[in-house]
Amino acid sequence: MYNSRISGLGYYVPENVVTNDDLSKVMDTSDEWIQERTGIKERRHVEKGTDTTTSMGVKAAKQAIERAGIDKDDIDFIVFATLSPDYYFPGPGVLVQRDLGIKTVGALDVRNQCSGFVYGVSVADQYIKSGMYKNVLVIGSELHSHGLDMTTRGRGVSVIFGDGAGAAILTREEDSSKGVLSSHLHSEGQHAEELSLIAPGMGKRWVTDIIEEKDPEDISYFPYMNGQFVFKNAVVRFSEVIMEGLQTNNLGPQDIDMLIPHQANLRISQFVQKKFGLSDDQVFNNIMNYGNTTAASIPIALTEAWEQGKVKEGDLVVLAAFGSGFTWGSVIIRW
Ligand code: ACO
Repeated sequence: MYNSRISGLGYYVPENVVTNDDLSKVMDTSDEWIQERTGIKERRHVEKGTDTTTSMGVKAAKQAIERAGIDKDDIDFIVFATLSPDYYFPGPGVLVQRDLGIKTVGALDVRNQCSGFVYGVSVADQYIKSGMYKNVLVIGSELHSHGLDMTTRGRGVSVIFGDGAGAAILTREEDSSKGVLSSHLHSEGQHAEELSLIAPGMGKRWVTDIIEEKDPEDISYFPYMNGQFVFKNAVVRFSEVIMEGLQTNNLGPQDIDMLIPHQANLRISQFVQKKFGLSDDQVFNNIMNYGNTTAASIPIALTEAWEQGKVKEGDLVVLAAFGSGFTWGSVIIRW
């Protein structure tokens, strides 16, 4: 049986920096409120006509491919995680296959929001462990900024999210003590609507409804979040799924060299850090600079941590996510 390891990482964020003060010019909010509740100082917003979710993913992927020391034609499969695809259909996986000029390999789109990258890594790992594929490209990319309610009405959600992409190459590893040791995935659809974007869809708000009603007060096509409920569930599920991963491998929190939590909210990361008694050197956060980039947040953070020398050979690295669905998961890696 083979194992999989991350052999290359990359990320891309658009140039346009949007500070909390910039947001306070278009809605009733403040730098103080945003920093105190979320830790966010600034985020990136794509300028119209420049990037898309796919193009950002492609840029991150090119860097990951180069760093993995492989050719694009060595990629056997593509996994693309996003909640903000370029098109309703087809998904961005095939657009990456086209735009990277890769031969006609399979492309899978993952719809697990903030947990998307963790789900994607788990899928890639299993394909490699089974022997089916040797190199799998996993991308998380989001373009939130042009789908948010940028008025005071939407401020509880809109200040949190930012745009960007991250990518990883998972490669076959013969040494079973190295690479992805385990992954753990969960969902609880009972709370699906607590963090959701309802329209357009073929459930409650059909495209034809929206066109016929032309209701200027319709906010069903903006994301909705029950913030406090999400917070309460997130801190519990993050902790549970990290412990589940550690226990599966007969490890404990003291064995973690680097925890890369999904960058949901700095307060959530700090809660988890405190609960496990981890030092600042054992947890990586960059939400201050990018906001919450959903499926992109873990690969962007992992890439930055690796670039800064904070993820080294032999380290125990833990990825953990919680988000809309609700879905949550963890990946335990021996680097
Ligand atoms: N600026 C100023 N005031 C605001 C803003 C804003 N951007 N947003 C909301 N407010 C106001 C509200 O209108 C409310 O005013 P009121 O008391 O007059 O009604 C007041 O601030 C408090 O609002 P709450 O929503 O109760 O604020 P809360 O303390 O819960 O903080 C937050 C909101 C930061 C979203 C918090 O609930 C939270 O951290 N939730 C976790 C969810 C999360 O992090 N989601 C990230 C995405 S999901 C994921 O990645 C897992």
